[in-house]
Amino acid sequence: MQDKLIIFDTTLRDGEQSPGAAMTREEKIRIARQLEKLGVDVIEAGFAAASPGDFDAIHAIAEIIKHSTVCSLARASENDVRRAGEAIRPAKSGRIHTFIATSAIHMQHKLRMTPDQVIERAVQAVKWAREYTDDVEFSAEDAIRSDLDFLVRVFDAVIEAGATTINVPDTVVYSIPALLGTRFQELIARVHNADKVVWSAHCHNDLGMAVANSLAAVLNGARQVECTINGLGERAGNAALEEIVMAVKTRRDIFLCDCRIDTTQIVPTSRLVSSITGYPVQLNKAIVGANAFAHESGIHQDGVLKHRETYEIMRAEDVGWNANKLTLGKLSGRNAFRSRLKELGIELASEDALNAAFARFKDLADKKSEIFDEDLHALVSDEFVSEASENFKLVYLQVCSQTGEIPHAKVTVQDNGVERSSEADGGGPVDAAFKAIESMVQSGAELLLYSVNNITSGTDAQGEVTVRLSRGGRIVNGQGADTDIVIASAKAYLNALNKLHSRSERAHPQV
Ligand code: KIV
Ligand code: ZN
Repeated sequence: MQDKLIIFDTTLRDGEQSPGAAMTREEKIRIARQLEKLGVDVIEAGFAAASPGDFDAIHAIAEIIKHSTVCSLARASENDVRRAGEAIRPAKSGRIHTFIATSAIHMQHKLRMTPDQVIERAVQAVKWAREYTDDVEFSAEDAIRSDLDFLVRVFDAVIEAGATTINVPDTVVYSIPALLGTRFQELIARVHNADKVVWSAHCHNDLGMAVANSLAAVLNGARQVECTINGLGERAGNAALEEIVMAVKTRRDIFLCDCRIDTTQIVPTSRLVSSITGYPVQLNKAIVGANAFAHESGIHQDGVLKHRETYEIMRAEDVGWNANKLTLGKLSGRNAFRSRLKELGIELASEDALNAAFARFKDLADKKSEIFDEDLHALVSDEFVSEASENFKLVYLQVCSQTGEIPHAKVTVQDNGVERSSEADGGGPVDAAFKAIESMVQSGAELLLYSVNNITSGTDAQGEVTVRLSRGGRIVNGQGADTDIVIASAKAYLNALNKLHSRSERAHPQV
């Protein structure tokens, strides 16, 4: 009999703490639906006390998701815990995840609390949480730099108060696999009633060891891992879900546990998260990078052709590389379009939204003969954007670019319903388009990042552009997709400007 390994996905919470990765309610719902399809056990949908928008998104996810537990993070304060409790109230299965820092440095300088006060607050937070749900997780922030005897006291106390999962985060990345494994062994041996709770690991990746550390925890008794799609997350990110899951599945003989993830949904989920957050996946990223299963050397290719297992320990199709089915074409009708969106878990808000998306699908089908699921995701992203508050919308773009001439762009933008036009020269066509837009809207934002990726293969593929802008300390990512990458770039720039205008301030849980 193998133990169950609980997969706790925090893409929508810790992942969202990556610069510019803040998501709208609709974007979060789309990812949550896909995470449910992937089979994650717990979806940490956000931090309810961060802002009314975050609360709403968690509440909506709690209403929709039926096959995963929906969780909200809460600092160990009454307001945070009660907001989390209200947000998850509609969930079929809901969890509150409350935390407080336990290392000397955090207690003294950040919390300005004594160790006894920290224990008292932790216990109180767990008791408040138990008023809403029997499923309460407690995290000792910066656990790895915390004194072991003190951690044992904290965990004894919160288990007594009703915590059912105990999470041991390596918040600042101080551990290495061997030490983390020992820490789990010591905690499980010393904490009373350790066998009555689930032990959990939460590892960040600043030294590139998040997955290795998480797996060391699993080898030493952890039965929940907290991870994110593509390893997205604060600073260098969190442990990557896809790597943990495939390591455990490939080496069941070592880990002696298994999870209920449908691995064929891994690549589609990775693509969706990347396109919504604007964080591209590096080509050589394990499992979900475009080169992950590409054999370049002749010897490898020869070996794989003769007997796949000479060089491959997993099959590309097992992690969903062939899941991007050829979906629809030029002749597909509105009903086929609607039902494919439904199969992908995409629900547009109204019949008008469906009609608008279908019109764009027909335009795309004129330019591109084969339309894949990824194209549909990019296409409806535009629809979700237009449902959100959208100040700026691209109406017209003309770019002149030829050898020996200075690139020049003419742009017309709808600015709160009023059409305005402008033109500018630039170092290249994209630069000219951005300058023309900027001369009109005068946002004063600084361009931090510009990247283009093709959504599917082939020269007729849609280009997906990410633009990261910063203004007054706020950072946002904008996305745009089109078969013409200059148009995609202009859309991405305007999308980022819309986000700069519309998103309200939100609290950061760890500040
Ligand atoms: O990294 C961390 O310590 C966290 C906690 C809130 C669990 O994200
Ligand atoms: Zn974290």
